[in-house]
Amino acid sequence: MYRLLFILSVVFIFGCKTSNGLRTDIETTVIAFGSCNDEEREQPMWQYIIENQPELWIWLGDIIYGDTDDMLDMTRQYGFLYDNEDYKKLKETCPIVGTWDDHDYGVNNGGKEWHAKKMSQNVFLDFMGAESNDPRRKREGIYSSYTLGETGQQVKVILLDCRYFRDSSVIGKNKRYIKNETGTILGETQWKWLESELANSSAQVHIIGSGIQVIPEDHRFEKWANFPNERQRLFDLLSKTKPANPLIISGDRHIAEVSKIDIKGFSQPLFEVTSSGLTHSYELVEKKGELNQHRVKNLLSGQKNFGLFFIDWKKNSIEIRTEVRGLNNEIHFKQKLTR
Ligand SMILES: [Fe+2]
Repeated sequence: MYRLLFILSVVFIFGCKTSNGLRTDIETTVIAFGSCNDEEREQPMWQYIIENQPELWIWLGDIIYGDTDDMLDMTRQYGFLYDNEDYKKLKETCPIVGTWDDHDYGVNNGGKEWHAKKMSQNVFLDFMGAESNDPRRKREGIYSSYTLGETGQQVKVILLDCRYFRDSSVIGKNKRYIKNETGTILGETQWKWLESELANSSAQVHIIGSGIQVIPEDHRFEKWANFPNERQRLFDLLSKTKPANPLIISGDRHIAEVSKIDIKGFSQPLFEVTSSGLTHSYELVEKKGELNQHRVKNLLSGQKNFGLFFIDWKKNSIEIRTEVRGLNNEIHFKQKLTR
């Protein structure tokens, strides 16, 4: 398996070589991602994820269903996953990075008001194996970025923290969130960081990870569209900084789908691949449906799933595909994301 140079916020460097000690041109980079993993349920998906030989696994939150301010209990819950034999095999196969969502943050649908957030940040970083000199040990929030690959074949992964700084969002009639027109999701410090990560990148592909969905705006649950100004700010920032081949990934919803939207300054639509959940999913969505004006064709699955990107490094262009797979490595759907 080809391995890639892997840089974490300029602090860690995992230099990997092929078996003969020499690097060769990588033909395809495979990146896997997923979310919503109830640590006390069966975890059948790891073996199928490993079969795809990813260069990187990205957690998109709800790594555990912690929902507690008791950090001993939270640590114990991460332990179920830490000790899982198949997850251990994945860790031996590739680096693992991630962000959190509400349940591993510690409270269902929680935001900046969560009183245990400093403690749960530390427990999260312990689980992710963050060293004491990791920048996330010294700042508030767990946002981070990583660059894979060598010059000309680089993928930058930018993982957002959509919990630590998020203003409150209120549920109104029909259990729908009332739009918060003035509140923030990322907070100013993280926005500045994000702008610098996007503006100062020479990577060929940019994967932006968010626990909650960014593009969809029709369902009643948590989403960036509940903070419409923040959602537009993200699109405007992409238009301003113009990172090459931006892609969004998200979790949280217990379904998998692909959404797209046109944004200024890009000749191709911005795609978002949602992959959730690894251990339990909303199967009824396939019968009942769910409105998403931005969904690509019928790319929707209610089966347990994980997501994959295949980045083909062709001579004159880059070709990116996504697949959402599930039990027995079965493909639920696939989609080409570049022309
Ligand atoms: Fe969630």
